[in-house]
Amino acid sequence: MDALVQTESDRKAALVAASLKGVTHRYGKTLALDSVTLEIPAGRMTGLIGPDGVGKSTLLGLIAGVRRVQTGEVRALDGDLKDEAFRQGCCARIAYMPQGLGRNLYPTLSVFENLDFIGRLFGQEGTERKARIDDLTRSTGLDPFLERPAGKLSGGMKQKLSLCCSLIHDPDLLILDEPTTGVDPLSRRQFWELIDRIRARRPQMSVVVATAYMDEAEQYAWLAAMDDGRVIATGSPAEIKSRAGAEDLESAFIALLPEEKRKGHKAIEIPPRKHEGGTPAIEADALTKRFGSFVAVDHVSFRIEKGEIFGFLGSNGCGKSTTMKMLTGLLPPTEGKAMLFGEPVSGEEDIEMRRRVGYMSQAFSLYGELTVRRNLELHAKLFDLPVATRGKRVDEMLDRFGLREVADVQPESLPLGIRQRLQLAVAIQHRPEMLILDEPTSGVDPVARDQFWEYLIALSRNDGVTIFLSTHFMNEAMRCDRISLMHSGKVLAAGTPPELIEARRAKSLEQAFIGFLEDAAGALNFQCFVDQATGRLSIIELNARFGGGFPLSDTAGARVPRWMIEDLAGLESSAAADFQDGLIMLRYDDAVFTTRDALGPDLD
Ligand SMILES: Nc1ncnc2c1ncn2[C@@H]1O[C@H](COP(=O)(O)OP(=O)(O)OP(=O)(O)O)[C@@H](O)[C@H]1O
Ligand SMILES: [Mg+2]
Repeated sequence: MDALVQTESDRKAALVAASLKGVTHRYGKTLALDSVTLEIPAGRMTGLIGPDGVGKSTLLGLIAGVRRVQTGEVRALDGDLKDEAFRQGCCARIAYMPQGLGRNLYPTLSVFENLDFIGRLFGQEGTERKARIDDLTRSTGLDPFLERPAGKLSGGMKQKLSLCCSLIHDPDLLILDEPTTGVDPLSRRQFWELIDRIRARRPQMSVVVATAYMDEAEQYAWLAAMDDGRVIATGSPAEIKSRAGAEDLESAFIALLPEEKRKGHKAIEIPPRKHEGGTPAIEADALTKRFGSFVAVDHVSFRIEKGEIFGFLGSNGCGKSTTMKMLTGLLPPTEGKAMLFGEPVSGEEDIEMRRRVGYMSQAFSLYGELTVRRNLELHAKLFDLPVATRGKRVDEMLDRFGLREVADVQPESLPLGIRQRLQLAVAIQHRPEMLILDEPTSGVDPVARDQFWEYLIALSRNDGVTIFLSTHFMNEAMRCDRISLMHSGKVLAAGTPPELIEARRAKSLEQAFIGFLEDAAGALNFQCFVDQATGRLSIIELNARFGGGFPLSDTAGARVPRWMIEDLAGLESSAAADFQDGLIMLRYDDAVFTTRDALGPDLD
């Protein structure tokens, strides 16, 4: 009998990566998890979805062993996390990436030193460490920045480095808390390709991810949807969709929410904009920022009309935040001019100007140790709101941004999505004429994101507020009147979203965006060898490098960019090449350069 039980529990352990039984977790009076029972399957990708602040991070922290179990049983891999010896000993088998931009990084250590340090902690010797650091930084496009201190990376670059840190050793259980928040669409794709490669190498590895991106969750094998500290649905994405009677996961996500959270939600409609003309609200004229010899922003120019919603898109580290900081006067430009309402931006304290502009930075910039309400009150005072109406405005903000319940909590202990809402509330509290918002919705759940957009649209259309925001969400970019796409310090393209899609003859903005970036990044990197005797050209190494690097053969439909054709045209010898897997064919003399099935329309 005993033997049978043993086998049965062994079998179960092999199928379950982590489990919770009757788990309740509180922070002071707040109930974060309410008697949760859940089994997370092994060897698969599991997604945790749900609105901000419903307990996803607490659940992940518990199975990662970084939070102490209060009530109930939490098992991960094959042990009980209440057993202190097991909890201490299992860290080498569990990798955990916490939520927030670069929370697990040492800001003064360089990219390399951060990774090297963790590799050492796991007892890796020099060559192995170096090989792993090389592989990870190349896959995430961080390799040109190995020497840069982590504190000086852009938001998305910090996020990528955090991921590299959690992948430096080979875990059995990989726990990622919103790993792609703030990561650009191309890098997001590379990110999942990297995880897939690791999974192919280690099929026994289990992955648990919390995400606010429903298109990502759609790809996972199994999902657990949470609300208010409880698990409200589990199953494959198809099962969850069919149970909710929804076609896509985003609608299923909304349909699963309790009535009171759902009722405020409706599809976003954008009324047409009245063109007001006149002095542009924002003007950037050849704005340039250099940090030492590195050019972060390179002669960027654009004009934004009054009342316009203007979106700033671009790859991680392309200079969006730096440009925004120059516009707000937080960072002096190296060259060029920034104008707001027709007046030059100065670094000087200008209270009149400050009152006209609301700014939200990418990193949390409020008082973490003052309560939510105190933060709002303090800003009302700083911006000199009339004393008689201050209390009313604070209340209005608490309600509008769903902060009432956490009014007396300190933001440092709040989930990212809720902290973001507070930052937004503060940025608009003094009713500025212009908003400069750096990734205001990164890390915010889909319902809250839409509610926030409704508000922005009303501000633009009813009150003529000019809105300049950066985002990595394509559906948000589609809602902008115009967008500008940056890469590597330069503006690649600007126009209305349909114009940009049309320019690439793409199906979607995401596809157009990726197309622009691929071209700009010089999508192909290869070394070729010309055999002088035969005149044959063979390709020794072929890598597509879309900011990161992965073999071309992985990228079905990759295109040959024009610069490569021009480079080859300079070769002396007559040459022809067949790439083994048939993906690329170069004939040098009669200048036929093609991939087997995909030359872009603008390249032939
Ligand atoms: N103080 C600094 N010293 C050196 N380099 C810096 C500094 N601040 C920013 N950079 C670099 O400038 C580049 C642009 O950074 P920025 O934060 O503007 O990018 P971003 O477009 O906002 O990216 P993300 O989408 O990741 O937020 C990055 O390579 C970043 O590492
Ligand atoms: Mg940024």
